[in-house]
Amino acid sequence: MGVRFLLDGDVIETGPVDPTMTVLELLRYRLRRTGTKEGCAEGDCGACTVLVGELLEPDSSIVKWRAVNACILFVGMIDGRALMTVESLGGSAPIQREMVARHGSQCGFCTPGFIMSLHARSLGASGSELPVADVIAGNLCRCTGYGPILAAGDAVPPAPHHDGALVDALSAIQRAEPLSFTFDDPLVGHARSWFAPRSIDELAAYLADRPEARIVAGATDVGLWVTKQQRILDEIVWVGDVRDFDLITPHDDGSWTFAAGVRYASAHAILAAIHPELGELVRRIGGLQVRNSGTIGGNIANGSPIGDMPPALIALGATLVLRRGDAVREMPIEAYFLDYGKQDRRPGEFVAAVRIPPAPPLFRIAKLSKRFDSDISAVCAAFALDIVDGVVRTARLAFGGMAGIPKRAAAAEAALVGQAWSEAVVEAAALALAQDFTPLSDMRASAAYRLLAAQNLIRRLWIESEAPEEALSVLALADG
Ligand SMILES: Cc1cc2nc3c(=O)[nH]c(=O)nc-3n(C[C@H](O)[C@H](O)[C@H](O)COP(=O)(O)OP(=O)(O)OC[C@H]3O[C@@H](n4cnc5c(N)ncnc54)[C@H](O)[C@@H]3O)c2cc1C
Ligand code: FES
Ligand code: FES
Repeated sequence: MGVRFLLDGDVIETGPVDPTMTVLELLRYRLRRTGTKEGCAEGDCGACTVLVGELLEPDSSIVKWRAVNACILFVGMIDGRALMTVESLGGSAPIQREMVARHGSQCGFCTPGFIMSLHARSLGASGSELPVADVIAGNLCRCTGYGPILAAGDAVPPAPHHDGALVDALSAIQRAEPLSFTFDDPLVGHARSWFAPRSIDELAAYLADRPEARIVAGATDVGLWVTKQQRILDEIVWVGDVRDFDLITPHDDGSWTFAAGVRYASAHAILAAIHPELGELVRRIGGLQVRNSGTIGGNIANGSPIGDMPPALIALGATLVLRRGDAVREMPIEAYFLDYGKQDRRPGEFVAAVRIPPAPPLFRIAKLSKRFDSDISAVCAAFALDIVDGVVRTARLAFGGMAGIPKRAAAAEAALVGQAWSEAVVEAAALALAQDFTPLSDMRASAAYRLLAAQNLIRRLWIESEAPEEALSVLALADG
């Protein structure tokens, strides 16, 4: 058994296939669709952007499209779905005409990627409610300049339409059973496998039985292990077909549960409604193609010291839900991160969900990175304070990029709690950060920068809480 998907109305069956072959490789080397380009092979440049369309539910009459990076998308992830490449447009799509009319292309290497991102927007795909500048933040062009491309995008607004034939064709290729295949890999001399469970129980049972299997969700981290580190993954269990693994559930107490498989793009509007700071944070996680694949559960499970969701979730006091077999356990999310590269996850266990309580009155997130869009944090800070009658009742300050794990600043918190909210107390908390963290120097930032910037973020919190009109945004500065 191989992978089966739709390409411009044709059913493509791959036959036996390497489970970590990327869709980009499939397109360029097997199907000879070379319009889709390889720029970076790590999800950063958007030259490989393609659209994946799927039925919202197995019996749904709605096809939801999303723009994704083919370079870090494994072929099993398009099973039962429709694929659209730049060739599918045939040169006559409205966005293609606008790009030509407005001189939106010079060398042309990036152009298929821009066309696909903007065509997705015109179809009303995931993220099409965003401004054009956000839709193309994951596409890089090094020669044209973005003005004509933005103008072309603005000239073709979203206009979703119903494609009954596509719905029928997609319904026809749905499988009765989970996709499961093995591939005899001549390079490593043994079989490698892919399994895509359909239910959470099926996932739990499989992992309990085969704890060494590698969980893959959006592959926006795992994809790079393959394309950049040439890692061989023997056994993959992909969670993208698991029913209800993308549920977002509100509770009466104002908290929300996000199942681990919720993609950033699907969570964006609700997180922004929970608190605007969360919405802004999500907007700056990768480009839209990354957010259309990457999941909240993957960001947490990966345990990276510079993942952006953990500091925010730690500051909010979120609860992590883990499951192994039938056993479910919960923990405060900060307890999950034990040490660099080490998390409190047992063999066969998976991250099932995260429950996010409402934010206290003073809640701020700050992401410091070299680029505003589509960049990894040098430092990410999240502050959640409850100040009653001028006295700090609770304070949770969490940082990414300051230690081997995302971590609370215990000494700085202790300097705040029970004290009057004043400049002197805030200064004491800022200085206490030096006890909490001994950051490292790396290509993103020096240790001295990290500590000083983190301290200044606490000072800024004070200034902005006293004089909100003095709040500064790099975007406001850029606009002059
Ligand atoms: C171009 C680019 C830009 C990026 N920008 C950012 C950024 O700005 N901020 C940021 O924080 N991250 C960023 N990332 C990293 C990445 O997008 C996130 O970490 C993402 O949330 C990972 O989710 P995923 O679903 O793709 O995980 P995957 O890559 O599928 O998996 C990541 C890890 O989590 C494990 N895993 C996944 N789901 C589960 C589960 N349910 N239970 C247990 N283990 C699980 C996997 O086994 C693997 O170890 C970027 C990545 C790229 C390629
Ligand atoms: S090749 Fe750069 S994002 Fe895929
Ligand atoms: S037109 Fe040359 S990189 Fe964009």
